[in-house]
Amino acid sequence: IVRRILMVDQILSDFWLEAEELREVMRRMQLEMDRGLRMVTHDQASVKMLPTYVCLTPEGSEVGDFLALDLGGTNFRVMLVKVVEDENSGWKVETRHQMYSIPEKAMTGTAQMLFDYIAECISDFLSKHHLKHKKLPLGFTFSFPVRHEDIDKGILLNWTKGFKASGAEGNNVVGLLRDAIKRRGWERGGGGLRRLRGEIVRERANVSLTPRTCAPQDFDMDVVAMVNDTVATMISCHYDDRSCEVGVIVGTGCNACYMEEKQRLELVDGEEGRMCVNTEWGAFGANGELEQFRLEYDRRVDETSLNPGQQLYEKLISGKYMGELVRLVLLKLANQGLLFHGQASEQLKTRGSFETCFVSQIESDTADRKQIYNILSRLGLSASELDCDIVQLACESVSTRAARVCGAGLASIIDRMRERRGLEALKITVGVDGSVYKLHPCFQDKFHQAVRELAPRCDINFVQSEEGSGRGAALISAGACKTAACIL
Ligand code: BG6
Ligand code: GLC
Repeated sequence: IVRRILMVDQILSDFWLEAEELREVMRRMQLEMDRGLRMVTHDQASVKMLPTYVCLTPEGSEVGDFLALDLGGTNFRVMLVKVVEDENSGWKVETRHQMYSIPEKAMTGTAQMLFDYIAECISDFLSKHHLKHKKLPLGFTFSFPVRHEDIDKGILLNWTKGFKASGAEGNNVVGLLRDAIKRRGWERGGGGLRRLRGEIVRERANVSLTPRTCAPQDFDMDVVAMVNDTVATMISCHYDDRSCEVGVIVGTGCNACYMEEKQRLELVDGEEGRMCVNTEWGAFGANGELEQFRLEYDRRVDETSLNPGQQLYEKLISGKYMGELVRLVLLKLANQGLLFHGQASEQLKTRGSFETCFVSQIESDTADRKQIYNILSRLGLSASELDCDIVQLACESVSTRAARVCGAGLASIIDRMRERRGLEALKITVGVDGSVYKLHPCFQDKFHQAVRELAPRCDINFVQSEEGSGRGAALISAGACKTAACIL
């Protein structure tokens, strides 16, 4: 038994990163961030540092009803957000939302299929809330790397996480959404083209009609802002705490944004004030910066993913990959005779069978190991007590590395903000969201501890965002409406 434990320990110790190694990650991340901000090095930088055109405007928002969409996390959501005046805080936000699951076919088919599905969900939501007749301003939380030309215009650089819909990369995402909304004037049914509401206008399927000119739309929307989920999260927290200038997501994906001095943003005009930068730090590592830290399991996860060679930092941390990393570790331990009497079940050998929520459940287990037994037996594994303890240690090793390496990323941003502002000490609030951050039993503590250890001159307050993307997207839209004096 002692020999077995020592061997397991040795394998799992590869996941431990010393503070000095994390500082090296920080140094490399800061270098890539600087390269991302500079015009001449931007294209080669792995961390893209994308300007978002979101500035923190203290002068307030438009009030009224807004629609918000949230695409890119675990769930696709449509939300109705009411921004109302409030005597104490200026204004407050109330939300109603509905979740829709995105079929795999829509995620990996064509962009038209995906955006038609989104438009269909909006239509359904508006019908349920009797809002079809209203042209509401819409804020779109789109959680992927976008190069913005303005707050309501930006091209998708590349899909990340489980999305791969063809024909979207390189295109204006707001345009794709607007086109899908326009297409909803007509639908195919009963062998002919039908108007969605009202009488049948053509029965011959081969007649092509342009919805824009021939039929009223099913509904209309005024897409006023598109934001990343990190940005929506930061903004939603900023309205409660004005020192919130950083947003972080640790969920299916992992990313951060922060407020940067405009004069350092070579990619946009203007020198005054600050603008929010979507770092897209998940892509860190594409220039080989993480090679000395990546393990055989990381390489396997990457090779079998939808985007090999990309999002290497994200693949060390986020929920999309954490369960799979643990599965590969367990498989190795079993193959070496250190777990399950050397017998791996078919399920354990199957890619994706070990869900990330199992990691949280296993690490939450109390002394009776009941949850661990349950999960392992569902995977066709019969486990001894020692097996259960080893599985728990494997989960802890993977999630602890995730928390600490993610902490190194955040410390890079915050300590850099402090230095750039010429401050000895910086007091700052960070808004955070995402299933790993919210649901894993120890991730938060280890993450906070790592950031504080690596950025000792910063006094950091972490705030968990609630309904971040809906509230954030609506508040940004409300701000955009005010700026553009748009009529609600
Ligand atoms: C949600 C935010 O709560 O967290 C989304 O509202 C965000 O905008 C999501 O994308 C990220 O977490 P997960 O775990 O759903 O990917
Ligand atoms: C991925 C996306 C990024 C998003 C993050 C969290 O990293 O590229 O835009 O913010 O996931 O959802």
